[in-house]
Amino acid sequence: MRKLSVDHLHGIKFLNKADIDLIFDTALNFKEVINRPIKKVPTLRDITIANLFFENSTRTKISFELAQKRLGADVINFSSSSSSVKKGESLIDTVNNILAMKVDMIVLRHPNPGSSILLSKHTESCIINAGDGTHEHPTQALLDSFSIFEKIGDLKGKNILIVGDILHSRVALSNLYLLNLLGANIKISCPLSLVPKDIEKLNVSVEPDIHKALRWCDAVNVLRVQRERMIKSYFPDNREYSMLFGLDENKISSIKKDILILHPGPVNRGVEITSGLVESNNSIILEQVENGVAIRMAIMYLLASKLNVSINE
Ligand code: CP
Repeated sequence: MRKLSVDHLHGIKFLNKADIDLIFDTALNFKEVINRPIKKVPTLRDITIANLFFENSTRTKISFELAQKRLGADVINFSSSSSSVKKGESLIDTVNNILAMKVDMIVLRHPNPGSSILLSKHTESCIINAGDGTHEHPTQALLDSFSIFEKIGDLKGKNILIVGDILHSRVALSNLYLLNLLGANIKISCPLSLVPKDIEKLNVSVEPDIHKALRWCDAVNVLRVQRERMIKSYFPDNREYSMLFGLDENKISSIKKDILILHPGPVNRGVEITSGLVESNNSIILEQVENGVAIRMAIMYLLASKLNVSINE
């Protein structure tokens, strides 16, 4: 059986091309499973997985939980807002108490960059990073590229554009690592104040003219402006941002070609993208959400097969 090169999923940075091929092949199999009339398999029947969310989430949390249930795993959900974290308990103490209840795998979303790596150094469990601050969101990047791959095939040599708040985005960083592994050509378009330092080291070119960038690309991934992570003002206001970098029908129709439009969500309609484009034929936003379940099933299955537990093939 082919195996992942890693024992945890901390970030795309730690994966190689063979890992990505294995994850996509496995996700294709699981996508077929979740489209059957009976969507459940007993693969992880003997495994218990805890979802630990120290930050808000809609898509990622539900998607992981559904993926776990489709694989037949036992699931525990933990949310920091209703836990003893409020009484001062540390992340490591919280997790070790949960692990004492014989949990095999942890899915962690946490506001601190590096939290999943820290946790794996202090616990025995397999850790999956479901978003660590502004650092990485590996399963989101995997489902983004998988969704593009499903539509237009191998990403090698394809032109992929990321528009939006690159500076504060863990989705952007994971996508940049992954698009490099897949051999895509990458551009970003955003206000220069939102371009991360040294971005060109990731084989990325910056195109401040969104019209040029859209004409160039095969697919555009639109990111939200993350006001909650901004410690200062990076552009005058939402109206000016939308005018210059927001995707709207005029900008898309002027390029006179079909491109795929992706968005990891949550969408701020009317700021980074119009409602009309979210629901247009170019948009694959809800297909991304569907693919998220298959990708997460693949990751948990592949990581579980490296644990000393029984897997029901
Ligand atoms: N894309 C994403 O991570 O969405 P949530 O914050 O709702 O999980």
